[in-house]
Amino acid sequence: MRDELKIGFIGAGDVNFGGGEGPWDHASRLERLGGVRVVGVADPDTGRAKAQLAKREGPMYRDARVYADHRTMLAEAKPDAVWIGVPPNAHGTAEVGKDIELACVRAGVPIFVEKPLSSARPERVRKVAEKVSEADVVTSVGYMFRYARAIDAIKAIIDETDGGAKAFLARYDCAYSEIRKREWWDVRASGGPIVEQATHFVDLARYLIGDVDIESIKALSIGGGDPAGRLLDVPVLADGTRCGADVPPEFAAARVTAAVWRFANGAVGSLTHGTLLHRKKYETELEVWGDGLRIALLDPYGDCRALVRRPHSEDAEEMAFSDDDPYLTEDEAFLDAVRTGDRSRIRSPYGDALKTFELTWAITDAAAA
Ligand SMILES: NC(=O)c1ccc[n+]([C@@H]2O[C@H](COP(=O)([O-])OP(=O)(O)OC[C@H]3O[C@@H](n4cnc5c(N)ncnc54)[C@H](O)[C@@H]3O)[C@@H](O)[C@H]2O)c1
Repeated sequence: MRDELKIGFIGAGDVNFGGGEGPWDHASRLERLGGVRVVGVADPDTGRAKAQLAKREGPMYRDARVYADHRTMLAEAKPDAVWIGVPPNAHGTAEVGKDIELACVRAGVPIFVEKPLSSARPERVRKVAEKVSEADVVTSVGYMFRYARAIDAIKAIIDETDGGAKAFLARYDCAYSEIRKREWWDVRASGGPIVEQATHFVDLARYLIGDVDIESIKALSIGGGDPAGRLLDVPVLADGTRCGADVPPEFAAARVTAAVWRFANGAVGSLTHGTLLHRKKYETELEVWGDGLRIALLDPYGDCRALVRRPHSEDAEEMAFSDDDPYLTEDEAFLDAVRTGDRSRIRSPYGDALKTFELTWAITDAAAA
């Protein structure tokens, strides 16, 4: 067991340093966990990396240097582990420059990778997964809901219900008018809203219920280029461009996707994703049904709570989880695995996350067919 771990960030954006629409921010969680020292922040936007470091205080950052390229950081700073939080089209393939994961694992460096694994199609990412598996380093992918106490509770209730879960229903209604990221509006850069965003709930479908029969998937969408896909409050960027205005209609992010499928265990699943709400607040919820059972998980990003109606009852018990911080728990589990070599607390290793990634693409393809 080593004392202080040397860590690096690849990407100096919102997910690693906070900002944007939600509660993410790995740096702040690592400050709370302690026992780590930041040796580098790699981002081609070195100004942004410097600005992020300028906002941080304390001995954890005393040796932090800014690098324009992760390869230089790996060679010079020699981190013991890295957090990869870059746009989907900047990583996850074997293409030089976008082979961030491969560069790290070739150097023997454990990787925490934010979802989605890439914006590239699964065929290309599968090759990366094979090499990552061969390298046999610790990996973790940012499906933080797997670490949520609410999800632990739901999993336990499903396990104790006769016949288990029979249906999984998820709704992810995103608020679009503050999404000022050019790539988000372009399927070529993001993979689309199911690959990039609803992926959290697709992953929970697999985590809570099990693997999906890919052949069973049926889906429909309102494409960004469809007449029904017209939106009134799309944000305008600092350069005056309306987000998505320069994207050919066939690559514009879908406004609504509705999908159904059958799980390998016979249960049925459904997902609806919408890019329709205004301002910042998302509306996200999911349900699990079984014999006599209905569980509703409400607002998992915010005031997280579950309503549970159990067999032989008409009452719903409310369970509150708003004090839980799954981002902290996932970072702690990764750090622990890097320190001890024991990977048992990691709930989303790279190879498993690939299956979620493949499922998100299968839904996207079914909707486009
Ligand atoms: N798990 C979650 O809850 C969660 C939350 C937010 C974002 N994310 C994911 O994290 C990823 C990053 O999102 P973000 O909001 O931080 O984006 P962002 O745009 O705020 O920041 C990304 C940063 O990566 C940098 N970058 C681009 N190419 C790079 C490269 N080759 N090497 C190093 N840095 C590079 C950019 O310059 C930018 O500063 C996305 O895939 C997103 O889906 C996950």
